[in-house]
Amino acid sequence: MKTTINRVSAYVDQEVTIGAWLNNKRSSGKIAFLQLRDGTGFIQGVVVKSAVSEEIFQLAKSLTQESSLYVTGTVVEDSRSPFGYELQVSHLELIHEAVDYPITPKDHGTEFLMDHRHLWLRSKKQHAIMKIRDQIIQATYQFFQREGFTKIDPPILTGAAAEGTTELFHTQYFEEEAYLSQSGQLYMEAAAMAFNRVFSFGPTFRAEKSKTRRHLIEFWMIEPEMAFVTHEESLVIQEQYVQYIAESVLANCQLELLTLERDTAALEKIKAPFPRISYDEAVEFLKEKGFTDIEWGEDFGAPHETAIAESYDQPVFITHYPKSIKAFYMKPDPEREDVVLCADLIAPEGYGEIIGGSARIDDLDLMEQRYQEHQLSGDAYEWYLELRKYGSVPHAGFGLGLERTVAWISGVEHVRETIPFPRLLNRLYP
Ligand code: 4AD
Ligand code: MG
Repeated sequence: MKTTINRVSAYVDQEVTIGAWLNNKRSSGKIAFLQLRDGTGFIQGVVVKSAVSEEIFQLAKSLTQESSLYVTGTVVEDSRSPFGYELQVSHLELIHEAVDYPITPKDHGTEFLMDHRHLWLRSKKQHAIMKIRDQIIQATYQFFQREGFTKIDPPILTGAAAEGTTELFHTQYFEEEAYLSQSGQLYMEAAAMAFNRVFSFGPTFRAEKSKTRRHLIEFWMIEPEMAFVTHEESLVIQEQYVQYIAESVLANCQLELLTLERDTAALEKIKAPFPRISYDEAVEFLKEKGFTDIEWGEDFGAPHETAIAESYDQPVFITHYPKSIKAFYMKPDPEREDVVLCADLIAPEGYGEIIGGSARIDDLDLMEQRYQEHQLSGDAYEWYLELRKYGSVPHAGFGLGLERTVAWISGVEHVRETIPFPRLLNRLYP
């Protein structure tokens, strides 16, 4: 029976054939242990000299790393392996011999591994991270479908900057300036007026000059937008969504979390409701913690966020930021015009902001005023104003950065390992 590693539990004590690559091997005079991978998982194949022909045993001993082969053998339960099964090999058929695979079991530097990302993805650790990423994507679709959202795809080529003009990717094709999308939000607001509760999931681009463990040039964002929903109600959706992600990874990725040596107790604690503190309180807190030079009205940097996050073992919402440091579309607090109805969700363990969200300005006059303040006049934004002209309603939404979330849930230090082919400052290869 031809099968894959992730399905072997259905074939205990039966003979199966698996197309695989050799990840690693150990052998002595009488036995060879083949660490096999087929993309769906990892399994050990045991080749006993006395159980196979001399030719097969010699082939097993001479196999090189990343050679491809068909392996035939009997599936047996193996309580010593975290995977739970191994293969007692009866036959091997070499498909292709790999010569001098560059990534050997010894340690390599990050730049070397990044240059070989097309091969590095085959490693056990990278495999585990990508499987967790996939699980978070699946959980996202499940959660928003369950909550009655419609998936809507905003354009990637846009004429309007959503998040300020300093980090835009310019393209040359249209008569007017066109950019790669920084955020689908403005289009998702139009979609919410047509479909009520919507979410998008797609690539976004920021020509960031930052070289930090949290910044990518190209990253994927989930952007829900909800008509007739207040900022408070949006926070509840956000915390339920993040809890759902954690639960779904814990339920479906135990082996991957083990591979990554992730402290799962930290993930078990992710239960809504999450703590909330206002920007004002956060500034006071930081001053007490020794950040004496922070002034009200300044944005927080990574050290500030980390200091705040350290007082909680849950993600924490920082709410009501000063209007002056947030995007033009955010709705002012009716009780205090200098702050906006917004929140950033800060992940624990130093992973920083994973969600940015807010209520949106729904008043036409106020939006026009913001256009002037931000010099956004022009044809590119005309349609966005019209959403405030024809049946404007209160609405709110948010954006969750997929890679930062994967980094946090997987417990990996840097976002570059959480996307298959990262685009960073100075990296376009492979
Ligand atoms: O806070 P941001 O810039 O918010 C928006 O773009 C809103 N328009 C979203 C919305 O309300 N629909 O970005 C949202 C999230 C951040 O919290 C962060 O997780 C992620 O996107 N993010 C990045 N991730 C990796 N690399 C970067 N350069 C990122 N910039 C933002
Ligand atoms: Mg933000």
